Amino acid sequence: MKVVVNARNGAHDFECGPGEKILHAGLRSGVELPYECATGTCGTCKARLVSGRAESEWPDAPGRRYFKSEADVLLCQSVARDDCAVEVGVALKPRQPTVTAPRALGGVVRARRRLTHDVMAVDVDLDGPLDFEAGQFALVTVPGIAGARAYSMVNFERRAERLSFVVKKKPGGAVSDWLFGQGVDGTLVGLVAPLGHATFHPDARKHVLCVAGGSGIAGMMSILSLACHAAHFAAWQGHVFFGIRTARDAFFLDELEAFRARYPAQLAVTVALSDEDVAPSLAAGYPALTFARGLVHAVAGERMTGRFADVRAYVAGPPPMVDASLRWLLREARLPPADIRYDKFS
Ligand SMILES: Cc1cc2nc3c(=O)[nH]c(=O)nc-3n(C[C@H](O)[C@H](O)[C@H](O)COP(=O)(O)OP(=O)(O)OC[C@H]3O[C@@H](n4cnc5c(N)ncnc54)[C@H](O)[C@@H]3O)c2cc1C
Ligand code: FES
Repeated sequence: MKVVVNARNGAHDFECGPGEKILHAGLRSGVELPYECATGTCGTCKARLVSGRAESEWPDAPGRRYFKSEADVLLCQSVARDDCAVEVGVALKPRQPTVTAPRALGGVVRARRRLTHDVMAVDVDLDGPLDFEAGQFALVTVPGIAGARAYSMVNFERRAERLSFVVKKKPGGAVSDWLFGQGVDGTLVGLVAPLGHATFHPDARKHVLCVAGGSGIAGMMSILSLACHAAHFAAWQGHVFFGIRTARDAFFLDELEAFRARYPAQLAVTVALSDEDVAPSLAAGYPALTFARGLVHAVAGERMTGRFADVRAYVAGPPPMVDASLRWLLREARLPPADIRYDKFS
């Protein structure tokens, strides 16, 4: 099926495979269609169907709340049934030369291990090597559950044959619950990757500010891994703020200490506990980390005051935490939007 996209800066067309989401086909073909969550919630991929037939594979997707017409569709959920023409209300940007086009891959779940009472590390062995940018995510589809879920890569390597994720168990959540269950290791899963714009590249001559809530630390680990490997912190500072509720929700503290040990004068890591005071034993166990009581965006706001020149911020985690961080970064820190990159784990 041929899909034509009319954007503010002209028309683009590409072929869609049978059952392929229009968003995935466009991105695969080098047409940088607008998207954010890629999972039906944010509405960023909204387009108007001008001709042809496209069907949503998730007719109740929450992103529909942004629709203004019956002809509106979500490109991340829609499959073309005929040749189609759609209109998007934005100009399409050219693809950055370093960015890899997403593609469909198969994978096998391996090496699940509990990090906390409700966070699991999960590796997926890929059926072919994948290049991705630090801070990107993959869409994962598991047997018997409708719809893909987005998970950010924790690792960073070129031609990766294994992707590492951390998954927080959502009460009543279909996929996260499945991943915590029995008999999951060795299961075949489907992936579409790499996706996402909250990327770090060492060419960026900027200090790095990471603000993460809970499993939002996933993509930050990938960013820190690349930044340390590329010696980015030899010239630039890194400020990492990791928000958790209580000490029992903490994970990756050893790994964060290891990053810090490589650049002790340039890289600072603060763990913010929102729901309890910092126990002296916790602080004593991780002398290279700083601990604070408070919501992560508030702790970051306080400690970063006056230090925003040449900063690029990366934010990820639950939507209320990301929204609060974005308000602070735009209004108080006055960072330009181009220097704020984020993923809402909606
Ligand atoms: C960019 C991004 C990165 C993320 N990274 C991480 C991460 O690294 N770690 C982590 O723990 N979480 C991450 N999340 C959240 C994660 O994708 C899931 O929302 C979360 O694990 C809950 O999934 P669930 O299946 O357990 O819950 P559910 O409530 O069953 O589903 C949650 C989400 O799945 C999608 N969905 C549900 N039903 C359907 C359907 N029928 N068809 C299509 N889609 C459907 C929707 O997006 C919905 O919001 C990320 C989210 C985004 C958008
Ligand atoms: S990108 Fe389609 S709804 Fe978010």
